[in-house]
Amino acid sequence: MIIAIDGPAAAGKGTLGRALAARFELAYLDTGRLYRATGLAVLNSGGDPTDPKAAEAAARALDPATLGDPDLRREAAGVAASQVAAQPAVRAALLDFQRHFAHHPPDGAKGAVLDGRDIGTVVCPDAPIKLFVTASVEARARRRFKELLDSGQEVVESTILADLKARDARDAERDTAPMKPAEDALVIDTTELGADEVLARVVSHVLAARPPAGGAE
Ligand code: CDP
Ligand code: CDP
Repeated sequence: MIIAIDGPAAAGKGTLGRALAARFELAYLDTGRLYRATGLAVLNSGGDPTDPKAAEAAARALDPATLGDPDLRREAAGVAASQVAAQPAVRAALLDFQRHFAHHPPDGAKGAVLDGRDIGTVVCPDAPIKLFVTASVEARARRRFKELLDSGQEVVESTILADLKARDARDAERDTAPMKPAEDALVIDTTELGADEVLARVVSHVLAARPPAGGAE
């Protein structure tokens, strides 16, 4: 089983993805971390994430062991991520890792949940379950602001809002693998929904699409 989750920044993709992975015993990959790690590697080497050569080299040299770096959560890494992510050579360099994870999930998992921007459209177009999770940009900025504040970072809500708007525009308007719902995706607006309500709806959707072997639950 592969579950593809796409949507804009701070919509609740990761919260839902981790919960679904636990519920259905699947492995979970936040593909944004690949782009964040690539962007951060360019920044850390003093380079410019919009420079195609620097960005492609960083994507090719990406070490999966660095995907747990707490600095990846900084909004500066998110902005650099969306700059490297607009470049076709970077996306091409990161594709195999994502597809391999989806089709050969680690630790004997029964399948995988991947979240990002192009999972249902490009990385796993054959995924039987596709979700597009969204929320108003104001709600998302508030959530991300609170999250960063709680993790001890000094942040300004209006700056986060401006960053998210710029990132949304770059992600939706790029030529290669733009952020958009797959035609067969279930679209969920989480502006007024708590994470538990979102999970309950999606679990029903998954069970309706793939009834568990041995009858109803
Ligand atoms: O966590 P948040 O939703 O803020 O962002 P993320 O998922 O960590 O992704 C950071 C950036 O990476 C996004 O703004 C996209 O530009 C890029 N990305 C992408 O292009 N394709 C993906 N599959 C995942 C992320
Ligand atoms: O992965 P993505 O960037 O889409 O979002 P996330 O990291 O799952 O969620 C961003 C923040 O919003 C977290 O602090 C979540 O607890 C919160 N959240 C929420 O308030 N309501 C939801 N329905 C989902 C997430």
